[in-house]
Amino acid sequence: MFEDKLQRAKESFTFDDVLLVPSRTSVEPKNADVSTKFSRNIKLKIPIISSPMDTVTEVEMAIAMARSGGLGIVHRNLTANSQMNMVAAVKRAESLKIRNVLTVEPATSIKDARTLMQEKHVAGLPVISSGKLIGIVTKRDIALVDDSKKKVEDVMVRDVIYARENISMDEAQQILYENRIEKLPLVDNSGRVVGLITAKDIVTRQKFPDASRDEEGKLLVGAAIGPFDVERAKILEKAGADVIVIDTAHCDNQNVLDSIKKIRKELSVDLVAGNIATGKAAQDLISLDVDGLRVGIGPGSICTTRIIAGVGVPQLTAISEVAEVASKHGIPVVGDGGVRFSGDIVKAIAAGADSVMLGSLLAGTEESPGMEMILNGRKYKSYRGMGSIGAIQSGLSDRYAKLGSSKFVAEGVEAAVPFRGKVEEVLFQLIGGLKSGMGYVGAKDITALKTETSFVRISPNGLKESHPHDIKIMIEPPNYQLFQI
Ligand code: XMP
Repeated sequence: MFEDKLQRAKESFTFDDVLLVPSRTSVEPKNADVSTKFSRNIKLKIPIISSPMDTVTEVEMAIAMARSGGLGIVHRNLTANSQMNMVAAVKRAESLKIRNVLTVEPATSIKDARTLMQEKHVAGLPVISSGKLIGIVTKRDIALVDDSKKKVEDVMVRDVIYARENISMDEAQQILYENRIEKLPLVDNSGRVVGLITAKDIVTRQKFPDASRDEEGKLLVGAAIGPFDVERAKILEKAGADVIVIDTAHCDNQNVLDSIKKIRKELSVDLVAGNIATGKAAQDLISLDVDGLRVGIGPGSICTTRIIAGVGVPQLTAISEVAEVASKHGIPVVGDGGVRFSGDIVKAIAAGADSVMLGSLLAGTEESPGMEMILNGRKYKSYRGMGSIGAIQSGLSDRYAKLGSSKFVAEGVEAAVPFRGKVEEVLFQLIGGLKSGMGYVGAKDITALKTETSFVRISPNGLKESHPHDIKIMIEPPNYQLFQI
């Protein structure tokens, strides 16, 4: 029996065990389409997600990730209230359709309208009479009016151009441009103002054309919760989270599955569950109607789970087993942990992932909340596992098993990673590498990379040959040097 058990041990692979085989191509890297899905309803322009860790994703990271076309998942090692405020701050960062529109009445004095504009930092106000839109007054209209007796109705534009509330951003842009106006009030069927689109906000949108946005133009953001935190899930959804991520080290646990069933019923946004590493676990979660699966038991740079608990599955095998099941149900898979180079992203997707989740590669960026430090003259940022002693003691983390009320067994380390500049620059290099890989294997998009490619196994010598060797490196290009420690 025992001999048999070992004999049956399956061969398994991780990033350094394989390479993708090049193939005849007509795909130029710059034309490769890297858009994907994080979950059933969350579409992204790039397949990269920032991990819910307290040294990786808070407001700044989530904004930067969404602006670049990816997604940030706000961590949960803080109170529900603080996490809710972070989610709300990301949703507020950009808004293409302003909802709580400030308005004035025709009889409002110019002085009061001017004060309102100054105090609220707005440059124009729709004019409302009996609840209906009858005009608009802008800073320009009142700039040179010095007669204090004048009212809004004396200077407002009466034939105001407006649109229906469900207008698309492209249509709105066209109307603003054709009429050379700055503001477009949105009205409902009874003529009430229910929103406002401004040219200024559209310019912001053009600066980040690939940004991940909801239908109101706000940036997408995800939020992590503990597996039993139904209340937090509801609060975060209310604050605007577009996707809730169940954040636990081992999701295929009966108590966790029972709880996910309840959480699922409470939420109308997407629910991504993890972490798992087997096809069986994928099946269990899919039968609970989750919208995405997070894969990875122990591959992370700061993880010690495999060493402490002796459990895990090398990451490419884990991804492929989960994807085998998930793909039959159209459920997206995120490969979480262990990515060190852009080539690892190419391999993760070819093994079946729809996106990857990064910790260490993003922890060193300007936008991460980690502490900056100088070591031997070089700038670093702190990065720690959510199962490290520091993370467990400083917060509410229950991602890893606690044995009793005050004792716990750490499953992660506290570390530092080199400062890596802006998120945008790191993502540029990672996506550049991904597209290059897609060019070599002839994959025009993520689906082709998943389904029309093949791997070769490599030996330790093959790996040695893959890195620069037998030379003294004088200048490392940023996409190689960036990811060295
Ligand atoms: P990378 O390799 O990107 O991995 O730094 C990030 C992922 O690692 C997981 N994680 C942990 N795993 N102990 C673990 O075993 C930990 O303390 C820990 N903290 C984070 C998590 O899935 C993350 O996204």
